[in-house]
Amino acid sequence: MKNDSYKLCVAPMMGHTDLHFRYLLRLISKKTMLYTEMVASNSILHNKSKKLNKLEHMNDNPVGFQLGGDNPEDLAKCAKIIEDYNYDEVNLNIGCPSKRAQSGNFGACLFSQPELVAKCAEAIKNISDLPVTVKTRLGIDNYDDINYLSDFINTVSKKGVTTFHLHARKAILKKGVNPRKNRSVLPINYRRVYEIKKQFPNLKIIINGEIQNPIDVINHLKYVDGVMIGRAVCNNPFLLNEIDVLLENEKFIDKDIILKEYFEYIIKNFNNNVKITDFTKHLSSIFKGYIGSKHTRAYMCHELNYEKKPIKKLEELLFKEDLWRNGQDSRSAVI
Ligand SMILES: Cc1cc2nc3c(=O)[nH]c(=O)nc-3n(C[C@H](O)[C@H](O)[C@H](O)COP(=O)(O)O)c2cc1C
Repeated sequence: MKNDSYKLCVAPMMGHTDLHFRYLLRLISKKTMLYTEMVASNSILHNKSKKLNKLEHMNDNPVGFQLGGDNPEDLAKCAKIIEDYNYDEVNLNIGCPSKRAQSGNFGACLFSQPELVAKCAEAIKNISDLPVTVKTRLGIDNYDDINYLSDFINTVSKKGVTTFHLHARKAILKKGVNPRKNRSVLPINYRRVYEIKKQFPNLKIIINGEIQNPIDVINHLKYVDGVMIGRAVCNNPFLLNEIDVLLENEKFIDKDIILKEYFEYIIKNFNNNVKITDFTKHLSSIFKGYIGSKHTRAYMCHELNYEKKPIKKLEELLFKEDLWRNGQDSRSAVI
C-alpha cells in the first residue's frame, strides 16, 4: 500500500459501505482508502452474516476491513481470514457506542481498556502482516480529556499501531443516547485532533467528523495526515472526485460513464438470491433536488424489487428519463 493511502478515506458505515457501494466508489475514485462496515469477530468465526458474505469484495483495493471484538485470539483468527481475502488493513472499531457493542464489550467501551486494545492489536500483528489501525473517539463518558486520549494512543501504538482514525467528538455510553445521537449531539472538536498530531508526529492521525467539502479537506490536511469522510459521501458519492480534482490533480469524471459502468456491474451480479435494491440504494442520493425525486428514490431503495423487469426499469430511470442530470443538490442529506 502506498504511503499516502490515508490522505482521503471513506468511513466504515454499517448499512452503507458494503461491497456494492465500495465498487461504485472505486469507479469514482482510484486512490481513496475505503473501509468495510464493521463486522463483529463472532460473526466471522461463526459465519453469522448470512445475507451477504461480508468478506467478499472485488476490485476495491485499497480497502480496510473493520473488526469489532475484544478477544485477542478471536481477532487474530479473523485477521488471518481477512488477509486471505486480500484486504489491505485490519481496522479495530473502538468507537461504536451501540447497545450491542456495549454488551459484547467492543466498540467505544474499549476506549477505557487501552491495555486490552493493545493486546488485541499485538495478537493480530503476531499472526498477520496486515497493518492494524484503530478508529476511535476523542473520549467516552468521563474519560474525556486530552491526556487520557494521549495515554490511550501511547499504550496502543507501543504494540505497532501507527495509524489512528479519530472521530472528533466523544461518545456517551448511556441509555437513550443511540448511535445516531452519538454522531450529532456532542460538539465536534477538531483542535484536539490537531493537538494529538503535534504530540505524536510519527503516527498517522486521520481526522473524521462532519467534513463536508473539498475545501474542508485541504484545510484539515495542514494539520493532520488524512481525512475520513462518512455521511457526506453517502449523500454525494461524486464528492470523492471533487476532492481528487483539488488534491490529486485528477480530472472531473463523466457521471454518465460511471453510471454506465455501475449499471453493467448490476447486470452482471444481480440474481435471484439478491435484491436489486442492494445495488441501487447506493444511487438514491444522486436523485436529489429535482421535482419528483422522492418517487425515483423510492424506486432505488424499495420499489424496484417489485418490478417484473427491474433492470429495464432501472435503465429507464438512469439513462432515458435523465432525471439525475437535472439538479443534483449535494447539500440536501439522505442520511
Ligand atoms: C449509518 C452509519 C453507520 C456507521 N457505521 C459505522 C461502523 O460500522 N463503524 C464505525 O467505525 N463507524 C461507523 N459509523 C460512524 C462513521 O464511520 C463516522 O465516524 C461518523 O459518521 C462521523 O463521520 P461523518 O460526520 O463524516 O459522517 C457509522 C455512521 C453512520 C452514519
